[in-house]
Amino acid sequence: MKIGKVVNQAINKQINLEMWSSNLYLSMSMYLQYQGYAGMAKWLMRQSKEEMDHAYDMMDFVNRRGGCVTILP
Ligand SMILES: [Fe+2]
Repeated sequence: MKIGKVVNQAINKQINLEMWSSNLYLSMSMYLQYQGYAGMAKWLMRQSKEEMDHAYDMMDFVNRRGGCVTILP
C-alpha cells in the first residue's frame, strides 16, 4: 500500500528529528572525548548511532511504500 501524503510528511519530520538528536549526541560525545571522558563519550556515540538507526528504519519504511524522504539541511 502506498503511503499517504500526510503520513509521509509526518514521518519525514520524525526522520529529521532523529537525525537532529543523533547530531546532538554526537556533539556531546566529541566534547566529552576532548575533555578526557572516554567512557561517557563512547556511550553518547552509541546513542548517536542508535538515533541514526531509527532514521534509517523510517527512511526504509517510506521508500518501501513509494513515499519520498526529504532530508532537511
Ligand atoms: Fe530515536
